[in-house]
Amino acid sequence: MTLPSANWQQIFVNVNIATMTQGGTSYAAIEDGAMAVSEGKIVWLGNKENLPEHDASQLTIIDGQGKWLTPGLIDCHTHIVYGGHRANEFEMRLQGASYEDIANNGGGIVSTVKATRSASEDELYVSAYQRLSALHNEGVTSIEIKSGYGLDLDSEIKMLKVANRLSENLPVTVRKTFLGAHALPLEYKDDAEGYIQLVTEQMIPEIARKNLADAVDVFCEGIGFSYAQTERVFQAAKAHNIRVKVHAEQLSDLGGTELAAKYNALSSDHLEFLSTAGVKAMQESGMVAVLLPGAFYFLRETKLPPIDLLRENNVRIAIASDANPGSSPINSIQLMLNMACTLFRLTPTEALAGVTCNAARALGIDDKVGELNVGMDADIAIWDIEQPAQLCYQFGVNPLLALYKQGQKVI
Ligand code: NIG
Ligand code: FE
Repeated sequence: MTLPSANWQQIFVNVNIATMTQGGTSYAAIEDGAMAVSEGKIVWLGNKENLPEHDASQLTIIDGQGKWLTPGLIDCHTHIVYGGHRANEFEMRLQGASYEDIANNGGGIVSTVKATRSASEDELYVSAYQRLSALHNEGVTSIEIKSGYGLDLDSEIKMLKVANRLSENLPVTVRKTFLGAHALPLEYKDDAEGYIQLVTEQMIPEIARKNLADAVDVFCEGIGFSYAQTERVFQAAKAHNIRVKVHAEQLSDLGGTELAAKYNALSSDHLEFLSTAGVKAMQESGMVAVLLPGAFYFLRETKLPPIDLLRENNVRIAIASDANPGSSPINSIQLMLNMACTLFRLTPTEALAGVTCNAARALGIDDKVGELNVGMDADIAIWDIEQPAQLCYQFGVNPLLALYKQGQKVI
């Protein structure tokens, strides 16, 4: 519902608006537009000729000087809370070791688990704050943060609490995902079943009781968890009314995406090895395909996700940083926009939809953010560009002029 102009608090004039309305083409753009905001929500937008009469003396008028507005950007898949780094493994991979070799020899995720367990909550907070600030300075106003480097109840809770603290101290909506089934911790080295039991019978119930997660994720992979183990985690999540998502088909095809579709998952993420059956399952369930060009690039993957098939089947595609110490130590959503186009051949309008409307859907918050439309939160980025494709085309000069979170200017 549009609000009478007497109740407006801010208007943006002299702007072009990439509304990013879901399913739209060419950024669902309104050129020579205007937009009104009240109480943190968008209450009017359209062509400037149609702007209703308003009392300018009662309003803050923001003159965009012909620049572009987009929704605040959304990074829908990250692991930014962790201890240590894995530069040593980067060097090993440059000498020929594979990501899987390293994981199978006691490195990989479990080495970050060690560093994360031994870090204090404050230490984790300080390093994650820097990573989130970097993303926020590039226009991010909503983010997903996963646990998964604790792998015991207290350490997983410690990570999720850090995510809560970040949301209290930066103007960014944080969606928290419990990823207890990320890897087998050393103390369960030969007992995957025992660990899954811990995840399903102790961790998920306690995380649910403390309301610490919006979703549950599993790494369904040869170096992660099997189809059957993944299903047990999904069942536990379902029993606690928590939506699921999955890291699947990154290094092999275990059918994790089809399984996730059966559990009405929000998204399936990575997907380089996704089969045609997997694409069909995604189409039928309406889940989002989250592509992670940073991990594809950093692991020097050569097999592309089945992008044409996803397109032909109208599967919504989101793009995220996957920021983490092992496969994507890259805290830049702007670089992801560029890589989505250069590595995955997405069009700039598809890439931008990937970090706005489709990313919102992958987090189940598309009723509030990800589009500039009446009724949505006024999470708005103003960019020093002449056409939206510039956001994907150039990298290294940050074109962000201003950022609004629920109508408040935060940058
Ligand atoms: O999304 N694939 C599993 N998890 C992360 C990587 C974690 C790590 O290597 O630390 C990912 O790529
Ligand atoms: Fe990931």
